[in-house]
This record gives sequence, C-alpha cells and structure tokens, in this order.
Amino acid sequence: MERSCYNAELSLDNVGQEVILVGWVAKKRNLGSLLFIDLRDRSGIVQITVNEGVNVPEVKNEYVISVKGKVAKKDVENKNLKTGKIEVIASQIKVLSKAKTTPMIIADETDALEDLRLKYRYLDLRRPSLQANLRKRAKIVSIAHDYFDKNGFIEVETPCLTLSTPEGARDYIVPSRITHGAFYALPQSPQLFKQLLMIGGFERYYQIARCFRDEDLRQDRQPEFTQIDLEMSFLDQDQILTIMEGFLKRVFKEINGVDIKTPLRRMPYAEAVDVYGSDKPDTRFELHLKDVTDVLKSTEFNSYKEAECIKALVIPGVAGETSRKVIDNLTLEAKKFGFGGIGVYKVLDTGVESSLLKFMNEEQVSKLVSKVSASKGDLILVLAGKHDPVCFALGALRNQYARKLGYIKPNTYDLLWVVDFPLFEKDLNDGSYKPLHHPFTRPTPETAKYLDSDPSKVLSAAYDIVINGYEAGGGSLRIYDQDMQNKVFNILGFSDEDIVRKFGYFIKAFEYGTPPHGGIAFGLERLSMIVCGTDNIRDVIAFPKNLKAVCPMSSAPQKVDEDQLKDLGIKIEE
Ligand code: AMO
Repeated sequence: MERSCYNAELSLDNVGQEVILVGWVAKKRNLGSLLFIDLRDRSGIVQITVNEGVNVPEVKNEYVISVKGKVAKKDVENKNLKTGKIEVIASQIKVLSKAKTTPMIIADETDALEDLRLKYRYLDLRRPSLQANLRKRAKIVSIAHDYFDKNGFIEVETPCLTLSTPEGARDYIVPSRITHGAFYALPQSPQLFKQLLMIGGFERYYQIARCFRDEDLRQDRQPEFTQIDLEMSFLDQDQILTIMEGFLKRVFKEINGVDIKTPLRRMPYAEAVDVYGSDKPDTRFELHLKDVTDVLKSTEFNSYKEAECIKALVIPGVAGETSRKVIDNLTLEAKKFGFGGIGVYKVLDTGVESSLLKFMNEEQVSKLVSKVSASKGDLILVLAGKHDPVCFALGALRNQYARKLGYIKPNTYDLLWVVDFPLFEKDLNDGSYKPLHHPFTRPTPETAKYLDSDPSKVLSAAYDIVINGYEAGGGSLRIYDQDMQNKVFNILGFSDEDIVRKFGYFIKAFEYGTPPHGGIAFGLERLSMIVCGTDNIRDVIAFPKNLKAVCPMSSAPQKVDEDQLKDLGIKIEE
C-alpha cells in the first residue's frame, strides 16, 4: 500500500512535498467550500484541508481513508497538535473502509464507563493515551531484552501446563482430556522451573513470563499478568540487586528521562512497617507513625490499657476541617481493619479536643502532643491493639491523607528495596506458619538458628523493589540445601506425602548438585503503571479483565459445549 510517512513525522521541513497518508477520520468539519479532516494514525493527528473542487467521497468519523496531498504551512498554528504548524492540502481522498457510528467518542477525554470501553476495547485502544501506555510497556520489555542479554542472561520459556506453584493464590486449573480427573495448573509464576534451570546449569535465566493467579482483584492486580522473571547462580544478594538496579536505571532514564540514583536505599521490613505502616512504603512524603504506647497505656481507657501497641499518625493542619462526618468515616476505616474505633485528637487554639479526654489527665494529653510533635491545627489519630494491625491500618490512612492533601508530586519516583522480611507469617488464630514469600526462600545466616526454637524470629534473604508505594517486584535467595528445605517444609506443616505430591520432582533435583542461587520477578504491569503515571492496571493491558475477572469484550469465561465436557469426563452440577 502506498504511504509516504506517518502523520506526526510531518513538519515545516516538508512544506511543498507531496505525501500519501493513511489513517482514521478523527474529526470532520465542513465549512461549505472547505472541508477539514483530522486524520489519525498511530503517530498522531494531522489536519487535512480539502478545497472546493476536489472530488471527495463521503467520509465520516472513524472511516479509514488514504489521502494524497501537498504539505503547506498553516496561517494560524494549532497549538494542540504536534503537527499544528502545517496542514496537508488534499488532491485525492480514497475511502479504504467505512465505519458505523462508534458507541463512544475516541479521544483521551472520555466519559464512557470502563465496561463499555473494555467491551469495545479495539476502539478504546485508538485513544492516544492507551497507545502511549502500551508503547511504554513495550519499551520496558525491549530494554529488558537488551539489558539482560548484554548481562549474560539466557531467555528460556517454561511450561504453562504444569503443576501448582506455591505463590499463595488459587490456581487456574486445566482438565486433561487424556487422563480424566487429572488437572494441570497454570503457573502462578515460573518459580520452580527457573530454579530447575539453575540446577540445569544455565546460571543466568530470564523470561517475559505469563502468570495466572485466581485471587481477589484490585486496581493493581489482574488474574493474568506478566513478570520479567529472573534467576541467577553463584551471586550474593548485593550482586543480584546491583544488576537489577542497572535495569531499573535504564527504564526510568530511557522512558521518563529521569536519573535514578543507585545504589538504592535498603529498608528493613520492620522499619517499613513501624514507621510507614506498610511493607511497600510510599517514601515520597513523611507522615511517620509514632509510638505512643508509653504515654497512653497509663490512661483510664480500657482499649489503651490492654493494648500491646499504641501508635499515632499526625496529619498537619487539618484539625479545623475534621467534622463529625470525617470522624465517622475514620471510624469506619478503622473498623474495616478490625478495630472498634480510632482515637481522634484535634489540637486547636483552645486546647486539645477529643471524645477520649475523659479517660486522660492533663499531663497525659500534653505528653501525647509533645511525643508526636503536634502543633496547633494538627490532627492526631491513634490506634491501639496488636503491633502489625495497628501499623498497617494507620499506614492505609497515611496514604489516603497524603493523596487527599496533595503531598505526592507528579513525576517523582522513589525507589527502595525492602529487605529482611520475616521468613514466616504466623496465623494469630491457630499458630500455624505460612511462608511470607514462598517455601524456597533462604533464611538469613544470622537468624537461621531460630528455625528450631522460634520460627517467628527467622528473617529471610528476600527483597522487594518498592516504587512510589507499589510492590513492583520481589525475589529472594533460595534454599539449596536439602536439610534446610525439609526443616522449612516441616515448620510449614507439609506432610511427607504433601511434599512428594506437590514438589517431589523438584526436591529430587536438589540431590544432584545445586548451585547457590536466587532471583527476582518484576511485575511488568506494575512497572508500566508507574512509568505511565496511572493507578489503574487496566490502563497498561491491551485486553484486561474487569474486577469480576470477566473480559467484557469476548465475555470470557463462558460455558462450553456438552461434547467438550464429555471429552474431558466432566459433569457440571447446576
Ligand atoms: P511475587 O508473587 O512477589 O513473586 O510476584 C512478583 C511480582 O509480580 C507482580 N504481581 C502481580 N501483578 C499483577 N497482578 C497480579 N495478580 C500480580 N501478582 C504479582 C508484583 C510482584 O512484586 N516467584 C516469585 C518471584 C521470585 O521469588 O523470584 C514471585 O512470583 O509486582
């Protein structure tokens, strides 16, 4: 097909040249003797001007047309367009394909509901912002290929029809036609395979890997997503993190033009939770949590008297605007986290105001204010209970207030590693242990000694890359010694039978010479969201699912034919 260039390549340099362009009619204005068409292709929009006397077929919005014409300087520049200094004076227009009236306007400013946009995603994808996002995502992948190839990594594909991988979500399962009653699981990640590739001698592996997890969806979670997945042998934690920092540096430089200073900060998990109330702290703003247990435990308020931990969050300057309704909402938020309520103290010109003052003497009140360094006009929020839930709930409020009060400057990026996670998470109800990452994560050498005496004290050689409050990736050094692995399985309560059935093949491989190894996986969508500046994961996926895990375009998932079910030996109970 004849085409001389993309629309957005045209500039004043091309004035006088004859061009042939193709694209969609984004807009049409008919001024009697003159017809203006905004022609859109993937590069952008250029104005086509059709003078009286040129034979034009009927064109409507979203028709695909080919335009032959001459580039001319515009009398008045259109500052909204990259090509606004020029126009193309058409001598010939051909319609290549017609279009029905679209169910939504195709422009960045749209009031179409997201489900409609997802139903007609192929139209939605024509919007410049989605085009830009998907290009940035592709650029991350292309940097990954280039960077990891240059650093000696070998790209290897691993199976999608496999056994369950223990990443903590529910599996998507696929029935076997050949063995009725047997199921494959789609991989939650290539974790076991990449470790087997290390035993297989590849030393440095990477893959742009599709992963599947049947879990509750959120703004930053999809049931199928992509990881930039890596595994390396014979490297220690610092060496691994340094290689990964080099990759992130290139991503932010080449896509956002931002220099990221390395080495990145490393923050122990305990500090992240204690000070920011999150395992993925947004460190672009302060609002640190403060411990006030010693000040408030001596008050007459029962919740404080009995609490293991009492923490405060000071929100500067909002006491005056904290109405009854705001306090009710704060209480609701606290209830979502399982607390009976939240202490709200307003530091006003007239003194401190709170419904809890009746339980406190003056000294306690003034100690509270000075301990958290609150000034007049500040609001002090206080939660009491078990340490981690108190921190996480205040951390959520910290994020909400920062967003509401505009503490987060656009186009700022704050990257850090969160390290020294606990190896296990203890179930507060039944005392059982679950892996915080996965069961193959190595304990730190300093804390491995607690495996026998008190597993809750064991820290892991795990690291998460946190960017602007998102967990953009995570990984760890792996256990490569069988005794240690068995010990961890025992603590997790896996029976020998479980171990053999779930990962017998994997454990067996460790008997044949296992190199010390470790790895990481970046969430490609999370990284893309951050570089694109969106907080909706669907903005960086061409064909995403909605929050009910449904694809509104294809209506997947759907029932299947009886014959298919029969082939698989499956009966559906209504
Ligand atoms: P993890 O489970 O932490 O680690 O996943 C790695 C990264 O993948 C992204 N991610 C998701 N993105 C979108 N939707 C989801 N449902 C979703 N779940 C996870 C996150 C996360 O940080 N095998 C280990 C990695 C390793 O140890 O090497 C793993 O999968 O950005």
